[in-house]
Amino acid sequence: MTPRSAVALDTSRAVPASAYPAVPMADAASTADRPPDHQARFAWDHTDTGTGTTATPRAMNAGPAFIDDVWRDAASTLQPAFASVRGALFDGDCMDLLTRLRDDCVDTVFADPPFNLGKKYGKRTNDARRDDEYVAWCEFWLTECVRVLRPGGALFVYNLPRWNVLLGAFLAREMEMTFRHWIAVEMSACLPIAGRLHPSHYSLLYHTKGKPRVFRRIRTPIAICRHCGGDIKDYGGHRKALNPKGITLKDVWTDVPPVRHARYKSGKRKANALSTKLLERVVEMSTEPGDLVLDPFGGSGTTFAVCEDRGRRWLGSELDVADVIVERLSSGALARHDNTDVLDTDRGVADGAGGGAQED
Ligand SMILES: C[S@@+](CC[C@H](N)C(=O)[O-])C[C@H]1O[C@@H](n2cnc3c(N)ncnc32)[C@H](O)[C@@H]1O
Repeated sequence: MTPRSAVALDTSRAVPASAYPAVPMADAASTADRPPDHQARFAWDHTDTGTGTTATPRAMNAGPAFIDDVWRDAASTLQPAFASVRGALFDGDCMDLLTRLRDDCVDTVFADPPFNLGKKYGKRTNDARRDDEYVAWCEFWLTECVRVLRPGGALFVYNLPRWNVLLGAFLAREMEMTFRHWIAVEMSACLPIAGRLHPSHYSLLYHTKGKPRVFRRIRTPIAICRHCGGDIKDYGGHRKALNPKGITLKDVWTDVPPVRHARYKSGKRKANALSTKLLERVVEMSTEPGDLVLDPFGGSGTTFAVCEDRGRRWLGSELDVADVIVERLSSGALARHDNTDVLDTDRGVADGAGGGAQED
C-alpha cells in the first residue's frame, strides 16, 4: 500500500457544526488579551551533574528552534503558552493547531482524546456528543494527524475498544495507514457492567504511515517470584534460550499503573492522566532521540514531560487546562512511575513492518 504524503481535509464529510465547535487560538499577533500565566514562556538550561543532567527552566522570548519549520506558512504561526528548547504547548483547540502545521513534519503522534463518557474536563471540552458526531469529530482530527505525520511515522490512539474499533477501520481503510498493533492496556479500576463482560482493558491503536521508519525493540524483565527469587513461568523448557535482557514487549500490557497518588497527579486537574510508563514505551518504541512527537490532547502533560526526559522534541495542545501543563513542566514537580523496560539496541533501530516469528 502506498503511503499518502498528504491527506487533504475532506470537507465533504458533512459534520454538523454542533459536532465541532472549534475554539480558535490566539495567533502570534493577538496574545495581549490572554491571562498572564498563559503568556509565560520558558527555556530549559541543561546542566551536566556528572551522574546525569538536570533541567532548569528560565524565561525566554522565542519558541524552540524547530518551531519556524512546522508551520504551513507565515500566516499560520501561533504563539505558544509554554516553550522549551525541545517543545511548545499551545493553549486551545487541537484542530486549530493541526490545520496550521505543514504536511509530513511530525515523527510520532500520540492521541488520548476524551472518550465521550460525559466527563467534566473543563468549560470548553465537549465530552457528551452523539455517537456519530463523536466518531466524525475523531475522524476530523485523525485526518489532520495523518497529514502532518512523516512517511514512516507512527500514530497511537488511546481510547475505549468501542471507539477504537471504528477509528482503526477508518485509519486502515480511508487513511491507508498500516496497522501494527491493537495493544490492550489492562485497567484495574473498572466496575462490572450488567449484561456484559467485565471491561478490563483500554485499547492503544498503533498504525504507521507506510513502513515504519523506526521500531525499537523494548524488553521487559523475566518475571521472578518476589518470595523465592525463582522464575514464575517455565517457558516450555526454553528458559535457557531467553534473551537475558528480558522478554520482547507484548501487545498486552498488564503493568501500567493507574495515576492516582498525589506524587504523580496535579491537584488542579481531577480528570484521568496516563502513566509516564505508557508514554515512555510509545516514545522509545517509535522514535529516536531528537525526533518530534505531537500530542493534540495534552491533559496533564504526560507526553511532554516524557519527551523532555527522553530527549525528544514535542508539540502539543490542550483546550482546558494548559496552565496545569505549564506548571508541571516548569516545576518538574510530578514523579515518574518506575519503569524496568530495557531498550534492545543490539537489534538495530528499524525492524521494518514485517511481523515474523520472535525468538523469545
Ligand atoms: C483524556 S485527557 C488526556 C490526558 C493525557 N494523556 C494525560 O496523560 O494527562 C483529554 C484532554 O483533552 C483535552 N481536550 C478536549 N478537547 C480538546 C480539543 N479539541 N483540543 C485540545 N484538547 C482538548 C481535555 O481538556 C483533556 O484534558
